[in-house]
Amino acid sequence: MRAVVLVGGFGTRLRPLTNSVPKPLLPVGHVPIIERLIANLVRGGVTDVTLAIGFKPEPFLAAFPDGRCAGATLTYAVEPEPLDTAGAIRFAAIHTGIDSTFVVANGDVLTDLDIAALVAFHRSRKAEVTMHLTPVQDPSAFGVVDRDENGLVSRFIEKPPPGAAPSNLINAGTYVFERSVIDRIPDGRKVSVEREIFPAVVADRGLWALPTQDYWIDAGQPDLYLQANLDVISRRRAAPNWADGVAPDAVLGDDVMLTDSVVARGAVVGDGASVARSVLLDGAFVGAGATVSNSVVMGRIGAGALVTNCVLGADAVIEDGESRCDERIPAPST
Ligand code: GDD
Ligand code: MG
Repeated sequence: MRAVVLVGGFGTRLRPLTNSVPKPLLPVGHVPIIERLIANLVRGGVTDVTLAIGFKPEPFLAAFPDGRCAGATLTYAVEPEPLDTAGAIRFAAIHTGIDSTFVVANGDVLTDLDIAALVAFHRSRKAEVTMHLTPVQDPSAFGVVDRDENGLVSRFIEKPPPGAAPSNLINAGTYVFERSVIDRIPDGRKVSVEREIFPAVVADRGLWALPTQDYWIDAGQPDLYLQANLDVISRRRAAPNWADGVAPDAVLGDDVMLTDSVVARGAVVGDGASVARSVLLDGAFVGAGATVSNSVVMGRIGAGALVTNCVLGADAVIEDGESRCDERIPAPST
């Protein structure tokens, strides 16, 4: 089975991390988001993945130089300009000759969904589109559906105003598409699958949805990116999505205190530093005696500095002894 994975967004909500690394290549538990996502597609029977990208493919080619990722064959569909979600799916499907039922996934979603079960449900309903649903507390930042007990969707509303959502089941960003959907997408302009195509499929009684309780997170915001990392090291996800917090070749000084944190291979932590509920990425440096909490770090933190609730990009420098407390990552509720 083939799949199109949408990775064309600019990752603005994850800046400045995404100034140096595209969002899908940021690691969660030492493995790029896109590789974890594709591994799950492969477990569900996907063999060929087209990455729909709106910008240069070079970082992806460098990350997966043999054209394979997590056991799937990778191809790239590079849009001449960002075409929005449906435009990108159309471009990728036509560009790579997709001619039968295929899977589509938002590139920032990490889930333990059984893709084979979603495909089986799709076929059982003779659906044109089948959408994975997940329950959330506040649906207003997502696509929301109303459906009957068999799963037939009667309404799809993208990002409804607060209080207007018909349910708390949201579009979880993984779909099965019939090839016929491509013919619904106008050529040559930006088209949103959520705002334009799904409502049209609903009107023809072709959109079905399957809610599951599987692990699910959209890792596209700093707090959720941090959470996605912590979920892997604390084994809140299903096996094999587990990892140790500290990469075997990370450089740790003496008497380092590490709690609930991920330390990448290329990170350095000085003597007596304390790191809690944080992700130290490749290139991060934490000076001796520094304290880092609830933060994601690529840059340099001086000796004795205090860093809380921060997202520090590759160029960031916190001076020795400096205190920095941002509001980029809300303090965890206790
Ligand atoms: N190739 C390409 N071209 N990809 C794009 C483009 C484009 O022009 N625009 C967006 N994408 C990709 C993004 O990179 C992301 O992987 C995916 O499409 C969805 O875009 P987001 O910007 O992350 O959307 P969202 O998170 O606000 O909402 C979407 O996901 C929710 C679940 O996480 C919608 O699908 C919602 O309905 C859904 O609930
Ligand atoms: Mg998203």
